[in-house]
Amino acid sequence: MSKRFFAVGFSVLFAVSAFAACGDDTESTVDCATVTPKGYSELSVAFGKCTSCHNSSLTDLVSRANAPLEYNYDTYEEAKKFPEKLLGTLEDDATFPMPPATDVQLTATEKADLQAWAGCDTPE
Ligand code: HEC
Repeated sequence: MSKRFFAVGFSVLFAVSAFAACGDDTESTVDCATVTPKGYSELSVAFGKCTSCHNSSLTDLVSRANAPLEYNYDTYEEAKKFPEKLLGTLEDDATFPMPPATDVQLTATEKADLQAWAGCDTPE
C-alpha cells in the first residue's frame, strides 16, 4: 500500500509598485490665475442637479433623501458656505461622490464649472 503526497509549493511574488503619495487634492486643484469661474447665477443647471436633495425649503431628512441639513445649493448665500466640502465630493476618489451614483450626474463641463466656482472664491 502506497500513498503519494504531492506537495505543492506556491511561490508568491509580490510586486511592489511605488505609489505616488496619496494625492493631497492634486486632482481638483483649480488654477485660478488661468480660470475665470462662472458665477452662481450662471450655474443653475449644474446646481439644479443638487437641489432635489440639498434645498433649504426641504427641512427634514426624509424629504432631502438624507442630504445633511447644513448643505444647501438653492440660494447663493447657502451654496457658498462650504466650498471645500463641495470640492471634496467632486474628487475622483470622493467618499461621498455627488450627486450620488443613482442620481442624475453632472456633465464633465458642469463638474469643471463647479470645481472652478468652489475653488476660486465662489463668485455670485
Ligand atoms: C439624491 C439626493 C442628493 C443629490 C441630488 C445630491 N446630494 Fe449631496 N448629499 C446627499 C446625501 C444623502 C449626503 C450625505 C452623504 C453621507 O454622509 O452619507 C450628501 C452629502 C453632501 C455633501 C457633504 C459631504 C461631506 O463630506 O460631508 C456635500 C458637500 C454635497 N452632498 C454636495 C452635493 C452637490 C454639490 C450636489 C450636486 C452636484 C449634490 N450634493 C447632490 C444627497 C444628495
